[in-house]
Amino acid sequence: MAIIELKDVTKSFGRVNALRGISIKIDAGEVHCLLGDNGAGKSTLIKILSGVHKPTQGQYEFDGKPVELSSPREALDMGIATVFQDLAMLPLMSITRNFFLGREPKKALGPVEVFDSGKASKITNEELNKIGIEIRDPDQAVGTLSGGERQAVAIARAVYFGARVLILDEPTSALGVKEAAVVLKYIVQAKTKGIGVIFITHNVHHAWAVGDTFTVLNRGSSYGTFKKAELTREKLLQMMAGGEELEELAVELDLIAKRDPSEVGKLEHRVAEELDRETHPKQ
Ligand SMILES: Nc1ncnc2c1ncn2[C@@H]1O[C@H](COP(=O)(O)OP(=O)(O)OP(=O)(O)O)[C@@H](O)[C@H]1O
Ligand SMILES: [Mg+2]
Repeated sequence: MAIIELKDVTKSFGRVNALRGISIKIDAGEVHCLLGDNGAGKSTLIKILSGVHKPTQGQYEFDGKPVELSSPREALDMGIATVFQDLAMLPLMSITRNFFLGREPKKALGPVEVFDSGKASKITNEELNKIGIEIRDPDQAVGTLSGGERQAVAIARAVYFGARVLILDEPTSALGVKEAAVVLKYIVQAKTKGIGVIFITHNVHHAWAVGDTFTVLNRGSSYGTFKKAELTREKLLQMMAGGEELEELAVELDLIAKRDPSEVGKLEHRVAEELDRETHPKQ
C-alpha cells in the first residue's frame, strides 16, 4: 500500500488554478521524480504533501486513511520530512544546531533543562559519518559547508528522525556535477532504507539516474505517472520540453527573423547548443 495517496487534488489561489485533478501515490522504498517547467505546480504540490497548503478539492490519504493536515509540524510528526532548497538550513548556526533544529536533546542543569550540546554533537557526527561525510567540527557554521554537504546534512537529519517520506525540492539545481552526484547517492541511500523519496528537479538526467517513478506536471495538470520501464530518457525530455512550447518557439523565431534577420542566427545557435547539452550531457 502507498504511504501517501492524493486523489484528484485541485489547488486554486484566487483565480489561479495552480493544480488541476492531480492524483499521485508515494510508495515506500522508491524515488518518485516530480518534473515540470517553471510554474508547473511542483512546489504547490509538495506544499500540499507537507502540510503547508490544504487542497481546494480532493483527498489526501496517509496509510490508506484520509487525513487533513493543518501544519508542516503535523506532517513532520507523521514522518513526512521536507527539505526546501534555500530554507533547509540556517547558515550562521552550527551544523549540530541545524541538525536538531527544534528537537534538541536536553539535560538537567539543577532545576532547569538546557541544550545537551555534547550529546547533540556526538549524534550529528555519527549520523553524518554513516552517510560518508566527515566534518572537521560539528560546531562550525553550516554556512561554511558546500551546497552538497548542506543537502547531505538535511537528508541525514530526516533519516535520523525517522522520516518515512522525504521530499526534496530541487536539491541538485545549485550544484556542480560532482556535488550533484553525491546528493544523488544520498537519495539512493535513503531509498534503500525504505523511505519514499519525492525528488523535484528540472534536470532530466538527474531524475533518470535515480528515479523509479516519474510524474510530469504541465501548467497545473499531470501528463501522468510512469515507471522507468515504460519510459526512455528521450521521452521524458520530450514531455518536459512539451511539444506545444517548441511550436511556440518556432513561431517566435519566425517573428524575430522578420524583424531582425541577423539576430535569429545567433538565437538559433544558442537553442541548438542548449538542446545539444540536454541530450548529450558531459558525464
Ligand atoms: N501562494 C500563491 N498565491 C498565488 N499564486 C500562487 C501561489 N503559489 C503558487 N502560485 C501560482 O501557482 C502556479 C504554480 O506555482 P509553483 O510554485 O507550484 O510552480 P513550480 O512548478 O514549483 O515552479 P518552479 O519550477 O519555478 O519552482 C504559478 O502560476 C504560481 O504563480
Ligand atoms: Mg518550485
